[in-house]
Amino acid sequence: MYEQQIASRKTFAIISHPDAGKTTLTEKLLLFGGAIQVAGAVKSNKIKKHATSDFMEIERQRGISVATSVMSFEYRDTLINLLDTPGHKDFAEDTYRTLTAVDSVILVIDAVNGVEEQTRKLVEVCRMRKAPMIVFVNKLDRDGKYPFDLVDEIEKELKINLHPLSWPINMGKEFKGVYNLFDKSLNLFTAREKANDENTVPIPDINDKLLDEKVGERDANQLREDVELLEGVYGELDKEAYLKGDVCPVFFGSAVNNFGVKELLDTFVQVAPSPLGRATDKRFVEPNENKFTGFIFKIHANLDPRHRDRIAFLRVCSGKFSRNTYFKHTRLEKDVRFSNPYSFLAREKEVIDDAYPGDVVGLFDTGNFKIGDTLTEGEMMQFTGIPTFSPEIFKELVNKDPMKTKQLEKGIRQLTDEGVAQLFTQHGGNRKIIGCVGELQFEVIQYRLLQEYGAACNFVPLAFYKACWITGPKEAVDNFVRFKQSNVMEDKDGNLVYLAQSEWFLNTERTNNPDIEFHFTSEFKTKMTS
Ligand code: G4P
Repeated sequence: MYEQQIASRKTFAIISHPDAGKTTLTEKLLLFGGAIQVAGAVKSNKIKKHATSDFMEIERQRGISVATSVMSFEYRDTLINLLDTPGHKDFAEDTYRTLTAVDSVILVIDAVNGVEEQTRKLVEVCRMRKAPMIVFVNKLDRDGKYPFDLVDEIEKELKINLHPLSWPINMGKEFKGVYNLFDKSLNLFTAREKANDENTVPIPDINDKLLDEKVGERDANQLREDVELLEGVYGELDKEAYLKGDVCPVFFGSAVNNFGVKELLDTFVQVAPSPLGRATDKRFVEPNENKFTGFIFKIHANLDPRHRDRIAFLRVCSGKFSRNTYFKHTRLEKDVRFSNPYSFLAREKEVIDDAYPGDVVGLFDTGNFKIGDTLTEGEMMQFTGIPTFSPEIFKELVNKDPMKTKQLEKGIRQLTDEGVAQLFTQHGGNRKIIGCVGELQFEVIQYRLLQEYGAACNFVPLAFYKACWITGPKEAVDNFVRFKQSNVMEDKDGNLVYLAQSEWFLNTERTNNPDIEFHFTSEFKTKMTS
């Protein structure tokens, strides 16, 4: 029904280890799309390392990340929705959730540093989701690793198959340009200058003398050798394999010099998938179904503490989302409608009347939404594949002001609904434990509880290693809970969670309790599909 709207949209995210060049690449893409006019308009949403205790920095970052959460722009008749992901590793879970709302990703790798820690983790999540991925190797203007070594390293370390679509001629000071294997042209590099069409030389036959003229005989011969090898090994790009997440096209360039970016974008609009369907607990939803469905993948608190309302980010999965129309909030079994939904076209927030599959809509929320909530035209189902992962750091929440107990309870509930952290409550008690993936989140929570809810708290570190959701026959679970009382908690939905002190304890419990299943993500009720 909405085939044309679906075919003209691409929704994706850029992921990278901090400093590889994600912000710079984003900015260049927006420049191509005409969404911004000048370089420097996109602010980095990084929290600088030294600023971990600087709360102004956290606030600044929150401001930026609202403004740049979704950037929509048009390029060659394609409406592109670029979803931003946080730069700091302590917010990795936010990134994982954003990845549930995109249909493909671009991974940026620094040619000097190669594969880094965050690169590995992010690619792992993309692999779980089988997201099609394009790789952009950045900073070719610096002396980095040799391209063949880089390709090798990326393939081995990330366990992915690459398919080079462009190939560099030298690097660093000697960097001369990239040869486009896709349309057989040469893009000549001039330092500190924006690449434009005049720098592109069509070289239909790589043996043509023109190549020697442009880059010198030695480099021309080297390129011929490289290209022969590459074509022999890789052949044509298998688009189906890319769409299945089995092969990743790779481009080389320098984002800051706007070099190699156009090739990336041109290929992206040609090969990247249009909005794809999503799995629910009942059935698979196709994007071209008539009826509207969508899910919440991100919640952002209002920056103004006097207003408690929040912005919930909805990914439209099928049908048409319309303003002032009642939809079913399936978890609450309640009809809801929105008078001011907004889109993020050209980075201006504007109220929209309707949105289509692949689009992201900002909804004002007064506390009705949790991450993963589903909206439909009445069908009772829940989108799946938006799991919560086991946190890595655990601390007990201690109330510093008994007069403010209510505010603290409300605050911690709302903050954990946003996905800032996970809240576990002692089974049969009232002890509250907060689990996060990074230390920085505890600082954010403490600060925001005080600023927004007037509640002062402390955190006492606890020596837990992992949280596992437990399921099994009632008798076995009841017994386990009785014996392990001090380690058994409940998550916000009342599911039982076992907190293990160490890997050894976890393994021992698994061996001693063969009837009980231990799950590392919250999504154990339904199989993870996408
Ligand atoms: P991130 O969002 O992935 O964290 O990276 P970001 O784009 O902020 O880039 C990190 C640093 O790398 C920036 O320098 C940026 O200018 C630089 N950079 C990006 N692309 C290239 C490139 O192609 N070549 C080179 N040589 N550098 C590049 P910075 O000093 O941290 O910030 P700035 O003061 O230059 O903005």
